[in-house]
Amino acid sequence: MNQGLNIKCKSILDNIGIITMAEYTYPMEIDIADKGKSVFPAGNPSYSGKASLWVEKYRPQSLDDVAAHRDIVDTIDRLTTENRLPHLLLYGPPGTGKTSTILAVARKLYGAQFHNMILELNASDDRGIDVVRQQIQDFASTQSLSFGVKPSVKLVLLDEADAMTKDAKFALRRVIEKYTKSTRFALICNHVNKIIPALQSRCTRFRFAPLDTVHVTERLKHVINAERLDVEDSGLSALVRLSNGDMRKALNILQSTHGLSEDNRRSYLPLHGKSIAQRH
Ligand SMILES: Nc1ncnc2c1ncn2[C@@H]1O[C@H](COP(=O)(O)OP(=O)(O)OP(=O)(O)O)[C@@H](O)[C@H]1O
Ligand SMILES: [Mg+2]
Repeated sequence: MNQGLNIKCKSILDNIGIITMAEYTYPMEIDIADKGKSVFPAGNPSYSGKASLWVEKYRPQSLDDVAAHRDIVDTIDRLTTENRLPHLLLYGPPGTGKTSTILAVARKLYGAQFHNMILELNASDDRGIDVVRQQIQDFASTQSLSFGVKPSVKLVLLDEADAMTKDAKFALRRVIEKYTKSTRFALICNHVNKIIPALQSRCTRFRFAPLDTVHVTERLKHVINAERLDVEDSGLSALVRLSNGDMRKALNILQSTHGLSEDNRRSYLPLHGKSIAQRH
């Protein structure tokens, strides 16, 4: 379907021009506000539905799929295999694979039981002290059904943990200790200094650095091939440079550029910044 689509470097750069010039809500702004979960403007039929988002479509499913961070991923993989998973604190800038890594761990640990064994709380949930006291304690204190031969510890995933209230963070210290036998906690955040030392010391910390150029390029090439896009080398380099090691940003720019390019192809308008800006 996408065969023959031609995304040139110029169009990528033009589109980037639009983002800054026309204050249009394309990936750079959306990335900060919504982390790519709702990347495209409402009402654009081409982009309705989460399934069409490349950041989700190409989210690593297993630890092997996670690009870069080999040391971290191998260590976590080994600990998971040996059934010695500690409480985790994954931190680092956006779009580097923290959430993807922990979800891949959960998939490996629980397989089809994934949804019964993991409590996932993120910034859209209320994360005050009540949640820690009730939701997390309720989940952690309920006995998990063992399946297979391995004893099954449950997993509480606190995504964007730096957004928890101070009281909640303090309450969490006790909860972690109390349920250590049956539950592992994975805290994920961008700013590790916003996690109180008492919580940090209960976790094994892993820093996810921005992805290096080689890994962003490799991963983008994988998506470009899978979507059968035609991207010139200079366009690819521009994407890599702009993403600054944020893989989510790289995929969002690639997808929005692809969308704009398709729109233009359909309506036979030349693809350059001003004409697209005028259409919006
Ligand atoms: N290391 C990676 N390997 C492959 N894809 C990645 C990697 N990091 C990010 N991505 C891509 O970016 C998307 C977002 O990644 P993820 O949610 O894991 O980032 P994050 O580090 O948790 O970011 P944030 O701090 O904003 O929550 C993924 O769905 C995937 O498409
Ligand atoms: Mg995340």
